[in-house]
Amino acid sequence: MSQTVLRNAVVYDGTGAEPRQEDVAISGDRIHRVGTVGRAEVEIDASGLAVAPGFIDVHTHDDFAAVVHPDMTFKLRDGVTTCLAGNCGMGCAPFAEASTFARIFHPHAALPEWTGYAGYLAHLDAHPPGTNIGVLVGHGTLRLAAMGSTAGPPSAAQMRRMKADLTEGLEAGAFGLSTGLVYEPGCYAEEDEIVELASILRGTGGVYASHMRDEGTGLLASVGETIGVGERAGVPVQISHHKAFGRAAWGLVEQSLRLIEEAQARGVDVHADQYPYTAGSTVLSAVLGRTLGSGEPLRLADIVIASTAAHADWEGESIPSLAARLREEPTACIARILAEEPDATVIVHSMDERDVSRVLRHPSTMIGSDGIPTLEGRPHPRLFGSFSRVLGRYARDQGLFSLAEAVHRMTGLPAGKFGLAGRGVIREGAIADLVVFDPARIIDTGTFEEPHSHPRGIEHVFVGGALAVRAGTPTGVRAGRALRRIS
Ligand code: ZN
Ligand code: CU
Repeated sequence: MSQTVLRNAVVYDGTGAEPRQEDVAISGDRIHRVGTVGRAEVEIDASGLAVAPGFIDVHTHDDFAAVVHPDMTFKLRDGVTTCLAGNCGMGCAPFAEASTFARIFHPHAALPEWTGYAGYLAHLDAHPPGTNIGVLVGHGTLRLAAMGSTAGPPSAAQMRRMKADLTEGLEAGAFGLSTGLVYEPGCYAEEDEIVELASILRGTGGVYASHMRDEGTGLLASVGETIGVGERAGVPVQISHHKAFGRAAWGLVEQSLRLIEEAQARGVDVHADQYPYTAGSTVLSAVLGRTLGSGEPLRLADIVIASTAAHADWEGESIPSLAARLREEPTACIARILAEEPDATVIVHSMDERDVSRVLRHPSTMIGSDGIPTLEGRPHPRLFGSFSRVLGRYARDQGLFSLAEAVHRMTGLPAGKFGLAGRGVIREGAIADLVVFDPARIIDTGTFEEPHSHPRGIEHVFVGGALAVRAGTPTGVRAGRALRRIS
């Protein structure tokens, strides 16, 4: 078995413990030894560099990206070795409904077909991507398959169908259930429906992850509902992209963090994830629903087009500037975008930096990029740089928390929460998903104007012991696995 040694690295082991200088030996797909190691076939001088477990991106929409862009270099170059996909209610099965979501993110891609979550994971087994992929079962997809876009509660037969598809996913190895309660059709589901479905996870360790109903002025009620689902169903909870959306809601995260603390004190296993930016990104149609909903409306100037199927020249323009260029009123312009590009994605400048810092500092927060992997457009730069940004901007430059703590939030903490056995830690016998980075240089470099720019300071990335990034350059090796939860 081939042996590689990372010599004199500063080891951040993922537990949050203080770093220490050691050699790390890799043998096959495992960490063979941490300590003083003799000469090996491959020697990598890591003096002055940090080595950490490969980063775990707990909030992604990469199920289809792993199929259409299997090299996954946009993630590997940020140090990410594992992606949890299927968030916000959007799953990868049943295929017919899942592919309607997939076409939003990959409008021009030809997709192979699979049956169920088992079929999706088998596809990855046969065509390994660059990163490991685990999936959540998406409630929106289940509901679309069972009852189309109809509002109101499911019939008994429709509920049986959703449960059967959810069970299929869990038995195939999914890591839990996600909802997207602002999107069609998830928004039609009431709490009881979600509790009934989430109850199927009880005892399996599977997590209930939710893009909540209202992240604006209704944030606290939404956090209450989400934690309530977890308590009623008896399952762990993950609040997706924890934030206060829109000026009228700024500051509310102080209280939402308190709700999390109170629930944890009652024994609820509840955490959140966050992308480290003051702008979000989603489909335009979902944003307009929110501007018309409760609270202060968004400013149209804060909405910038990220990707379209056929209007590349619109990408990067705010609504008012596009309206001016097209010589239209802003409302007419929006109507035109929705008519010609119903699946257009946008970037929305909607958060307060102080809230972003408060949430990030809190020990309940993991890192989830929520990147939209539409590589052809101008996706939110979080797709490329979330992890480097937390380490460089927030841990090193702003001192929000220690580097060891930042690494823990992107490795050991999520591995424990989601049951990613053998990952997220550096210890003998663990799987050799590793990232070697320069703590003095690491930083994201993408901007909203030029998102396609990879972080600085990520030197080497190993996936299952295979070198996937060497000296900052992807090797083309696709050593990712389809991960299955073992219960
Ligand atoms: Zn979401
Ligand atoms: Cu999401």
